[in-house]
Amino acid sequence: MSTRSRGRSCRVNSELHLNLLERTDRLYGIREALRRVISPSSRVLDAGCGSGLLSIWAAQLGAMDVIGVDSDSVDVAQELAIANGVRANVRFVSADLFNESSSELIGDRNVIVAMLFLNDPRRDERQIEIILSLRKRHLTASGVMIPSRVVTRGRLLEWPDQDYQSWLIRTQERTHRLSNLYGVDLSPLHRSIAAGTWHSQFPARNWTGRYPGAGYEIRTEAVEAYTVDLHRGEFNPPSQVVATATSRGAANTLLWVQEIWFEDILLFSNESISWLEHSVWCEPGQPVEMKLGKSWRDRNVIELGG
Ligand SMILES: C[S@@+](CC[C@H](N)C(=O)[O-])C[C@H]1O[C@@H](n2cnc3c(N)ncnc32)[C@H](O)[C@@H]1O
Repeated sequence: MSTRSRGRSCRVNSELHLNLLERTDRLYGIREALRRVISPSSRVLDAGCGSGLLSIWAAQLGAMDVIGVDSDSVDVAQELAIANGVRANVRFVSADLFNESSSELIGDRNVIVAMLFLNDPRRDERQIEIILSLRKRHLTASGVMIPSRVVTRGRLLEWPDQDYQSWLIRTQERTHRLSNLYGVDLSPLHRSIAAGTWHSQFPARNWTGRYPGAGYEIRTEAVEAYTVDLHRGEFNPPSQVVATATSRGAANTLLWVQEIWFEDILLFSNESISWLEHSVWCEPGQPVEMKLGKSWRDRNVIELGG
């Protein structure tokens, strides 16, 4: 059974999923995890099923019942299940997993596959909350979560292209120039851009979720922001990270590395960045305190502590 698409473009959605499927390292890891846990008595929830591939694999491995749920359209997932001959024990539903009204539909599950991550620790705080809530609502006492653990570490860099203050000044200059050209005060536009997330400056990641590794210098060790045990743990959003400098120089960018594990299998890892509101000077051995507060959660901009 498939609910109707909510009008979003299926072509764009499917292209996103094609890109995800091209991360073969990630999918081989998840398939290995499924091989370890799926048995004929498996009742599987594939949370954030996307293309439906994980549901199809679970069914092919012999699971007795699989439900795939996604907030986006599940029409293509449904077609893929039919094309691959597993429609009898797989169904797809379009629903927001944050909304508890989907609970009745899902029922008790002894395997929850929750590949809901957005590969950015800031936005994934909400996704981790969804996953822990799914576990509480649906996982049986001896049930298994895939993934089982999320680890997030950060280290400071000097990355001149990512300097937040320079970007603010450039944006102000651009709006000021256009204000003069058009005879209209455009300063509210600049204020609005400054108050938002600096999306336009996110550097491109390669197919393994990494940055090119060039154009910056590493200033601190990698320090753990949090580890969440998705089987048992709770999530306490961090309020700060403190990293110790390993080299001398300025730092302006926090490079995050997120690792998603199932038992001893690293399913995948991704890099993302946040910006320091002001660059900081580092001397080897000195700690740098970074606040993970409202400014970070709203705008991806980190204030310095201490
Ligand atoms: C990274 S994709 C994973 C797709 C697929 N499971 C895979 O591993 O290739 C995450 C999926 O989760 C879905 N998603 C994110 N938040 C959701 C929510 N609150 N409720 C339902 N689906 C959600 C997105 O629409 C997206 O299709």
